[in-house]
Amino acid sequence: MSILITNIKQLLQVHDHNVTIVKGTDMKHLSVLENAYLYIEHDTIIEYGKMEDYHPIDAEKTVDATGKIVLPSWCDSHTHLVYAGDRTSEYVDRINGLSYEEIAARGGGILNSAKELQNTSEEDIYDQSIARLDEIIRMGTGAVEIKTGYGLSVEAELKMLKVIKRIKQDTLAYITPTLLAAHAIPQKYRKNKEKYIEQITQELIPKANALNISHFIDVFCEEGYFDIDDLEIILKAGKANNFRPKIHVNQFNNLGGVAIGVKHNALSVDHLELLSDKDIKALKGSSTMPVALPGCSFFLGIPYTPARKLIDAGLPLAIASDYNPGSAPSGNMNFIVGAACAKLKLTPEEAINAATINGAYAMGISNMYGSVTRGKKANFIITKPMNHYREIPYSFAHNPVEQIIINGTLLE
Ligand code: NIG
Ligand code: FE
Repeated sequence: MSILITNIKQLLQVHDHNVTIVKGTDMKHLSVLENAYLYIEHDTIIEYGKMEDYHPIDAEKTVDATGKIVLPSWCDSHTHLVYAGDRTSEYVDRINGLSYEEIAARGGGILNSAKELQNTSEEDIYDQSIARLDEIIRMGTGAVEIKTGYGLSVEAELKMLKVIKRIKQDTLAYITPTLLAAHAIPQKYRKNKEKYIEQITQELIPKANALNISHFIDVFCEEGYFDIDDLEIILKAGKANNFRPKIHVNQFNNLGGVAIGVKHNALSVDHLELLSDKDIKALKGSSTMPVALPGCSFFLGIPYTPARKLIDAGLPLAIASDYNPGSAPSGNMNFIVGAACAKLKLTPEEAINAATINGAYAMGISNMYGSVTRGKKANFIITKPMNHYREIPYSFAHNPVEQIIINGTLLE
């Protein structure tokens, strides 16, 4: 199928050569073609330019985008969207005064979702999860990371990986699976955490490597979960089995996980609500992407990641939804882009860079996704008519998306 889009009011994130990351002051710049056209064949971007330079192209389908913005689909580099059931009763408990940590301490939280997942069939988990994915695709997400982490046993973690694999095969979105067995200490190992870590490192990681579904490893490095010694052990076992780290650090406590992540060449360090100068120093000169998750801060009422500090230090930044049942039950990246502007004080240009090219980088796919470049994948948002792309974050919690092109397929 070939598709031609004409009369695009603003075509965003256009790069004639392959850009794979945007950092520091460069994040303030968004490359925009005014009054543009775009031509794709199958799943690939073939040509684009200004309408004044346009020579008729014979396409199977033409879309007139008069008054509309076209931009690369959102690249959501941190989600837990495969889960069973919901945690609405804990949500009400939190409204009534309990904290996320207090709920976890009484055996709720992640352990609650793990129980639910263990009692749900693979088929049912698949159905619930693909419905969530389809919903966020309609809201403009074209590439998404999905973590395990509600299995919390060798068997159930592998079950989650298999569900993610099936989803990857069945969807038009690009899926990056991540193994997050070290998400919480299972009830059974409450007093013997080392035993669970041993199962992860000696049994699960090699088995997961053999399945060849995921090559990223995550750890929830927090007080009451996994400390920095655990983090070291798990990342080392991961490295020996071809897993690169993408880790949860500094959400409630700063245990020093950022520097350890960088030391192990993490692709990303995510959350960072608590950030020290030492963390910033560790990130400088590394190839690790810091990732902010403003939806989680919004929902839990915890501090927002000091994103300005990161960008103003010359670092890159990605933003992601953290879509999960406990701390961010929404995968709406349009809201995340709006929240990044309102709460992290990113400019619209910085927020769009953070949610496209840098999000793609945080999944290891920015050579193929996240910008409009010849040869890259045809994943686009075509917005409703608007005057300027700034309206995307400005009209926060609105849906700016009118049509989607995903893997070269037009969804109306
Ligand atoms: O990124 N905090 C760890 N993981 C998730 C929450 C998962 C859950 O509560 O189910 C997060 O916030
Ligand atoms: Fe998370």
